[in-house]
Amino acid sequence: MSRYLKYGVESAHYILTGSKLNVVNPESLKELSTIRDFIRWGSSEFNRQGLSFGHGFVTALDEARYLVLHALALPPEWPETFLDCVLTKDEREQVMDILGQRLKSRKPAAYISRESWFCGLRFYVDERVLVPRSPIAELISNHFEPWVDSNQVHRILDLCTGSGCIAIACQYMFEDAAVFASDISRDALEVARVNRHEHGLDECLELYQSDLFDDIPAQQFDLIVCNPPYVDAVDMSNLSDEFQSEPGLGLAAGEDGLALVDRILLQAGGYLSEQGVIFIEVGNSQAAMMEKYPFLSMTWIDFEFGGSGVCCIQNQDLKQHQASIEAISRGAQAANHA
Ligand SMILES: C[S@@+](CC[C@H](N)C(=O)[O-])C[C@H]1O[C@@H](n2cnc3c(N)ncnc32)[C@H](O)[C@@H]1O
Repeated sequence: MSRYLKYGVESAHYILTGSKLNVVNPESLKELSTIRDFIRWGSSEFNRQGLSFGHGFVTALDEARYLVLHALALPPEWPETFLDCVLTKDEREQVMDILGQRLKSRKPAAYISRESWFCGLRFYVDERVLVPRSPIAELISNHFEPWVDSNQVHRILDLCTGSGCIAIACQYMFEDAAVFASDISRDALEVARVNRHEHGLDECLELYQSDLFDDIPAQQFDLIVCNPPYVDAVDMSNLSDEFQSEPGLGLAAGEDGLALVDRILLQAGGYLSEQGVIFIEVGNSQAAMMEKYPFLSMTWIDFEFGGSGVCCIQNQDLKQHQASIEAISRGAQAANHA
């Protein structure tokens, strides 16, 4: 039973959000009775209170629907026809509780439900890791084809793994490959360990704690997949509450958003096999990357299901331009430390 709701829906709303209900007549909340009613009301309230979205849900309606169903222990794909079922009093309170938590905390829904979905797989998440949302999911589902020959992928590294979602999804899609994952954050690796265990991969998926490649034992990968921090200084100063509740270590990447990418490009060649390929997500820092490395052949992926700012680079291209990459990367690192 919710600890918030013994005084009724309207006082619970005040306790949870610190604000009065933005409705003409709070009594009217007593008229809400079905699952659909609560999804609709939650959507309106999320919009009225100016919440922001972008952690796996695009609209207030999507996020309210997910949270209401989660509170009722129902799966996200619950059939439309059952949305008109009437809730019991206890269930109404549980639903108001979870909607209230979202309104009051301004945290992404995934931190409240402690779960997130990526490549159709469920992952445990909490505030120690970013909420999985990378468009790289689409590449994994397609075995990274046509950019790689998936039959030639035997060793994969997920660099900057966070919750472990990319590595774990890769292990499902490349059953016979050896998959490795690394992160600098001990906290993030603890979450990755939980997910590795929940997916029954303790015996095969190896995790490294490492500042990029620094502590990864020398070896060669056919595929490196990397969603590093890439938010530039301007965007970092404009983050909504929802994004600010994620670990800054997973987002901030210096003035131009390329602080980590500079180091990755410098070192990746040494960890890729001859025909190896690296996929890097840089989001809004795509333009900065193209401007900084104009000589480097980067293939920017067109996603069928949305998203952008992910490119792939062949090891041969990295090797060919190693001297130029080194000059730029060393200069950028010196500037970042000045
Ligand atoms: C954008 S998050 C990506 C998490 C996950 N791969 C995903 O797609 O949801 C970036 C991750 O990089 C890690 N990170 C930040 N700096 C790092 C570094 N120098 N070396 C390794 N990992 C780093 C952060 O801890 C964070 O987990």
